[in-house]
Amino acid sequence: MEKAKFAIVGLGVMGQNLALNIANNGYPVAVFNRTESVTRQFVAGLPADQGIIGTYSYVELADSLEKPRRIMLMVKAGPAVDAVIAALKPHLEPGDILIDGGNSYFEDTERRTVELEKEGFLFIGTGVSGGEEGALHGPSIMPGGSVDAWAALKDMFTAAAAKAYDGEPCVDYIGPRGAGHYVKTVHNGIEYAIMQMIAEVYDLLNRGLGLSTMELSELFKEWDAGELASYLVEITYKIFEKVDPETGKPLVDLIVDEAQQKGTGKWTSQNAFDLGAPTHTINAAVTSRIISGMKSQRTVAQALIDGPSEKFSGDREAMIAAIKNALYAGIILAYAQGFGLLHVASEEYDYDLDMQMIAKIWRAGCIIRADLLDDIMKAFDRDPGLVNLLLDDDFREAVVSRQGDLRHVIINGIKLGIPVYALSSALAYFDAYRTERLPANLIQAQRDYFGAHTYRRLDKEGSFHTDW
Ligand code: 6PG
Repeated sequence: MEKAKFAIVGLGVMGQNLALNIANNGYPVAVFNRTESVTRQFVAGLPADQGIIGTYSYVELADSLEKPRRIMLMVKAGPAVDAVIAALKPHLEPGDILIDGGNSYFEDTERRTVELEKEGFLFIGTGVSGGEEGALHGPSIMPGGSVDAWAALKDMFTAAAAKAYDGEPCVDYIGPRGAGHYVKTVHNGIEYAIMQMIAEVYDLLNRGLGLSTMELSELFKEWDAGELASYLVEITYKIFEKVDPETGKPLVDLIVDEAQQKGTGKWTSQNAFDLGAPTHTINAAVTSRIISGMKSQRTVAQALIDGPSEKFSGDREAMIAAIKNALYAGIILAYAQGFGLLHVASEEYDYDLDMQMIAKIWRAGCIIRADLLDDIMKAFDRDPGLVNLLLDDDFREAVVSRQGDLRHVIINGIKLGIPVYALSSALAYFDAYRTERLPANLIQAQRDYFGAHTYRRLDKEGSFHTDW
């Protein structure tokens, strides 16, 4: 029997769809799942010539593959990845390639790279973005790790990846060791920031301006046809459109307002703190998800605590136009923070990240895909060493020209008592970044006052302490 060219371990929806995608591209795929019945059910539902081979033990899986073996793990990030690797290893040979396609913590990927390379295996940790649909029809793939393994995977991954409007595949080698998973984590951090800003805009439009869910759907659809065109704006108008068949109400109105999270946004913020990179809006998004989870306390608090009684009383159309500009500026600022973090991490971890390439492979397939990414790619093309998007003429102008609207929208949120933490954090990032003298001089003085921590002076070299 013909040997499979690729294997997938873990047949959740992502694993199944990726297996189908790769098989559809002409590469026979062996599949394995810990619970045998899942494999049986999956394979039973496929035509015989689909090119997917069910296997029911790791020995069988290893035997079914051509060498060097290429085995991709699509299992839950964390201990399950180590457990599968440990169970597989006795059946593998040096030179075989293991790929972790889950949302793994990049430091786990760093560790696994060292452990596996010591034993002669090649390891790739790859981000795969795009959800179920992406996995099936073309995700954005962010592989990091062994260069030799990448060479052996390139054709297959290129075939399976999403293609941008210009035909370019949304996959490329990101960098050594944990670079692929690191970049995917930051992708998710940006994803959190954009989702939170969209949610705040929804709150302003709905609770603040009184737009109905159907009006919101029309508005977001209109926005998706312009500069805000992106997957997240597109799914938002589709969500607003959806009516619950049981109640006849908009489904979104019936969903509990507690945002869950698996951890990648939090990891982005935690790592940004570790590296000393400002990620205001990602942090605000993580914190906003946390407070959303405190539903029972919020319910008690609402009955006890009054906010402003003010209602919106301006020009509704003008405010909607301002909100659109504010969102666009906020999204640029979220990308500026994400790419700024990547810049710092690239140096810290010797990842040698190519920002233009990262923007390029985020243009399609992934959750944060947006027309804007094409412009970001062009900005890094103009200046590959660009340390912050705000230093690019076009992006600076795009935010500067909308800053009045961003400020206006935030002021209105504050007046109405509607939390606009992510939008205002984006503005605070912008204002801090463009300000030469921040009030940190006072913080230094305070630190020196109570702890003799010393300070530096503007007018002379050295380190100083004052008996305050
Ligand atoms: C993607 C998504 C995907 C997943 C998120 C959800 O790029 O395809 O980001 O990885 O849907 O991890 O994350 P939370 O559960 O933390 O929102």
